[in-house]
Amino acid sequence: MTDLALLSQHDGVAVIMVNNPPVNALSPGVPEAIRAQLEAAENDPAVSAVVVIGGGRTFIAGADIKELEEAASGATPRPPKLHAMLRAIEDSAKPVIMAIHGTALGGGLELAMAGHYRVATPDAQMGQPEVNLGIIPGAEGTQRLPRLVGVPAAVDLCVSGRPIKASEALELGLIDRVIEGELLTGAVAFAREAAAKGGPHPKTRERNQKLGTLESNAAVFAAGREQARKTRRNQNAPLAVIDALEAAVALPFEQGSQKERDIIIECLSRDQCRALIHAFFAERAVAKIPDIPKDTRTLPLRKAAVVGAGTMGGGISMALVNSGIPVLLKDADQAALDRGLATVRKNYENSVKRGRLSQEAAEQRMAMIHPQLGFDGFDTVDIIIEAVFESMALKKQIFPELDRVAKPECVLASNTSTLDIDEIAATTSRPQSVIGLHFFSPANVMRLVEVVRGKASSKEVIATCMALTKTLRKVGVLVGNAFGFVGNRMMFPYMREAQFLVEEGATPAQVDKALYDWGMAMGIFAVDDMAGIDVGWRVRQEFKHLEKPGVRQPLVLEKLVAANRLGQKTGAGWYRYDENRKAVPDPEIEALIERTAREAGIPRRQIDSGEIIERCIYSMINEGARILEEGLAMRASDIDTVYLTGYGFPAYRGGPMWYADTIGVKKVYDRVAEFHSRFGELWEPAPLLARLAAEGKTFASLDAEKTREESAGAH
Ligand code: NAI
Repeated sequence: MTDLALLSQHDGVAVIMVNNPPVNALSPGVPEAIRAQLEAAENDPAVSAVVVIGGGRTFIAGADIKELEEAASGATPRPPKLHAMLRAIEDSAKPVIMAIHGTALGGGLELAMAGHYRVATPDAQMGQPEVNLGIIPGAEGTQRLPRLVGVPAAVDLCVSGRPIKASEALELGLIDRVIEGELLTGAVAFAREAAAKGGPHPKTRERNQKLGTLESNAAVFAAGREQARKTRRNQNAPLAVIDALEAAVALPFEQGSQKERDIIIECLSRDQCRALIHAFFAERAVAKIPDIPKDTRTLPLRKAAVVGAGTMGGGISMALVNSGIPVLLKDADQAALDRGLATVRKNYENSVKRGRLSQEAAEQRMAMIHPQLGFDGFDTVDIIIEAVFESMALKKQIFPELDRVAKPECVLASNTSTLDIDEIAATTSRPQSVIGLHFFSPANVMRLVEVVRGKASSKEVIATCMALTKTLRKVGVLVGNAFGFVGNRMMFPYMREAQFLVEEGATPAQVDKALYDWGMAMGIFAVDDMAGIDVGWRVRQEFKHLEKPGVRQPLVLEKLVAANRLGQKTGAGWYRYDENRKAVPDPEIEALIERTAREAGIPRRQIDSGEIIERCIYSMINEGARILEEGLAMRASDIDTVYLTGYGFPAYRGGPMWYADTIGVKKVYDRVAEFHSRFGELWEPAPLLARLAAEGKTFASLDAEKTREESAGAH
């Protein structure tokens, strides 16, 4: 057991090195090992002080989230086993110095705060990010943090979950010294000084000077709650963490800790916590591709080219150079190229203005984008990403050109949002090198990239593109090549139902409000106005031949396009926009909708938000079930990740498929079946949804089954 924490001696200072690679998570056994070594050090008369440090690249990065998942699922009761150990550290007669490098987050920071002193390297990061997982610090973090940094900073750190660097930590009083040189040497020197100064050494739990009173902190707590409601809409944990911090002020340490324990147990029992933990693991699961082993060769991507300097081409170029990959940016038209480059420059200037980027860095990045009209240098790049207009004819003209100029191993990617990758690949002599990389707008900001696997895409090319998304600090989800891929395909029924709802009597503002209040980042009509109404309309034109005659289709969109109400860009769409681009409900559009409904003989009625949510979200879930069945997504959790990282789906609901599990697949199915009989064939239940409902299973259980089969196959 004790090899999870190694003990050594440095001239009278005992060093306990946590040894649980890769990130020294506080897994079972680690606290016990640290405690055992601490006891050994205390009993050793030759030892005058103790340093606790992380082995490898970090201090204790955080709790073991697998363990947390079990606790949230109710599988294991969660005794407060850390508490006694933290007490033992604090009560040690010899000074205990926590030496922090890498990250000390969550449980890692809670442990560090029990030491008498803390030192850290300049780039070390510390924080209490528990709210991101729907919980609060559960090992007395809410009680010790305000004692070290004061209540306002503790509220800010716990509600935002943001990590801070050593300089800020020093200013706040979270650490006692920044060590510029080698950490262990600096920490041992600090330990000697502390031992020489003599005891008693400060116990954090007894440091009440910074706490103040409930009265003196009333405004801080009120502002914190306000911040929580605004930045973490509908979420419970950020409010709960303020309750716990309030307890730190109002109650003695022991009782405050008890209160913290009650609150975290309550958090763990909530759907929000389970959903956020699911989201965490779902995002990590995307990298597992059953037929592409981890050791698949990836091609080095040192230099890239982007074709098309429009909205997407510019954003993709920024994403690349932000990660250090220089770009040749080609457009067919000088004016478009100039415009594209000007937009990129403006984006960087805005970042400089906001203090997010230095002027020098902005210039460096601009210099890494080489604008051009021809193919010069294309034979030197490792990947070409095409982002020209969405037209198959145009893409079919460009890919043979790319095939001609690119070097043999170059990856040829298309950013198409709807077109068939195989058809594009077939125009080249190397379909194995062709793949879809579907970025989301704005591409320099949005994290999602759908990596679209063509039938010929080679494993190396897929692995290379998945690795690229990581380099870009994005989330790549591998999807199949079919109309709309995963994300947009589920958007179609969602959008369709929203439009039906307004035809039947709701207003766009009412639909948007219901969706926003439910947790979506934006209402669907506001999204449509932002993206441009013509975009969706054009896609619909291209695929009109797939619409079955006699099956209901939305009617208003066409009229908006005819009236040149294309959304924000024309000042009006589903809403009207004032000079500040603020959406205002427009009686004109409401009249247009009413007229359209009347002409089509659609009866109008009152529609409540419950129906709005069910029709919009369940139609999306039903389509998700089809996507899974067709194998276009590898896992239900991949679909969730697509929606969480690309479509503003609320993380605390876990994604559409997880949400279906939370509601109960059977319940969702029953409602879909009811809508089927009420509204017709567009609501036909997906066979997979029907099967899971009949068998009493969940989408998550389906994922788990697949994982089991895959690992059985691998052995
Ligand atoms: P855009 O209209 O802003 O830009 C297209 C650019 O391609 C223009 O600058 C145009 O001059 C250039 N171009 C046209 N023909 C060319 C040629 N032969 N060689 C070089 N450049 C040429 O279009 P946007 O919105 O950037 O879309 C590009 C692609 O990305 C499309 O396939 C679209 O479906 C896809 N996409 C768009 C998203 C969006 O939100 N706008 C989201 C995801 C994908």
